[in-house]
Amino acid sequence: MGASVLYTKITQRPPAIVRSDGHYLETDDGRRIFDASGGAAVACLGHNDPRVKQAIMAQLDKTAYIYAPFFTVPAAEEIATFLTESTGGKMQKVFIVSSGTEAIEASLKMARQYFTELPNPQWQRTRFIARRQSYHGNTLGSLGAGGHKVRRAIFEPILATNVSHVSPCYPYRDMREGEGEAEYVGRLAEELEAEFQRVGPETVCAFVAETMCGTTLGCVPAVPGYFKAMKEVCDRHGALLILDEVMSGMGRTGTLHAWEQEGVVPDLQTIAKGLGAGYAPVGALLVGSRVAEALTRGTGSFTHSQTYQGHPIACATACAVQKIIRDDNLLANVREQGPYLGKLLKERLGNHKNIGDVRGRGLFWALEFVKDKTTKEPFPAADGIAQKVHRTGLQKEHCISVIPGAGVADGKNGDIVQIAPAYNISRADIELIVDRVEGVINAVFGAE
Ligand SMILES: Cc1ncc(COP(=O)(O)O)c(C=O)c1O
Repeated sequence: MGASVLYTKITQRPPAIVRSDGHYLETDDGRRIFDASGGAAVACLGHNDPRVKQAIMAQLDKTAYIYAPFFTVPAAEEIATFLTESTGGKMQKVFIVSSGTEAIEASLKMARQYFTELPNPQWQRTRFIARRQSYHGNTLGSLGAGGHKVRRAIFEPILATNVSHVSPCYPYRDMREGEGEAEYVGRLAEELEAEFQRVGPETVCAFVAETMCGTTLGCVPAVPGYFKAMKEVCDRHGALLILDEVMSGMGRTGTLHAWEQEGVVPDLQTIAKGLGAGYAPVGALLVGSRVAEALTRGTGSFTHSQTYQGHPIACATACAVQKIIRDDNLLANVREQGPYLGKLLKERLGNHKNIGDVRGRGLFWALEFVKDKTTKEPFPAADGIAQKVHRTGLQKEHCISVIPGAGVADGKNGDIVQIAPAYNISRADIELIVDRVEGVINAVFGAE
């Protein structure tokens, strides 16, 4: 491995992984790191599952590649059918891509195209409303949709100007003293309504949100009723609801689709990470009946395509991963072990002077760090606290991987780490994670 790789920190070579198996990653200097993050909440089956490898080999033996506009393969049909059936037919069509970002790009184009295909086309619909402290990907379109201030900063002058942002649902910092959940939801719905009015309700294609916020806010489940209220605003103005489940979907929160717990059905849904569990790069756009039927009746095609869409290896991988999740009853394990992880994190770290909030759902938990627990003052961004916790975790004394995130408080300051282990984790593994994370926190901040 040479210095030609453009590392994330250009001059710092990250640890080299020479082997990974189950929950462990082995480095070339002999560390065995417990993967409590699944990379970036991806490796939901752990590493080196022989069944997925076998499925990939079997697909390679049949067909490695086809060009999706010309041909289809059984694996593509199978994963698409699995996905639509998993929604009870509410989502009718599936467009397979290679990443979460690509799924978001496709969703934005699909939303726009939908309005041009109605019997009375609404060409004036060109805008999107998304949320601050959100992340939807890193290409210009998806970055333009997201509200990640730091990742947007230097590119701001070349990002699309047809997206505006409202507040996320973030009770830890944004719910007012004495305010009930229903009032808070009402206030957020009024804010969204006001944004529709400000930009012109007839110009909005869709409201875009992560069903459960990922790295840019840190595993915040929506307050009950939040998504219903947001959907009502969208419905009032004929706009679509796009739910980004790239990180929170495919079982991470305890149901295959995170929206199942929110009482809403999106018009468009993006998925990725847990779809292929990291064994192949794969994401997808799921298209709800309203949009699918409009396009079918309209031009009959989606004005978008990519060379690797519906890639056979990606599709076969996703089929194998989803079969394992179903056959091994892993969602039940997420629902059982997730609350145990949350309970232990709260018991062991909830009172720490520098941990302001412990939150999550399923196997998707975050610790939010604060300088002052009473005022909730975050550490300044320059301290790089989340990165420090992450780096300390990888040291040989701790050997645990967690996901760092920053900017949660105001887009710049405010640090979190996320814990997102594999769905097949055991109770003993959870105890090991919490022991190691506690060791890391004490090493970085000192014991409480
Ligand atoms: C919610 C969300 N949307 C989109 C993306 C982009 O996905 P990818 O990195 O696969 O392009 C991510 C990645 O972390 C994400 O968390």
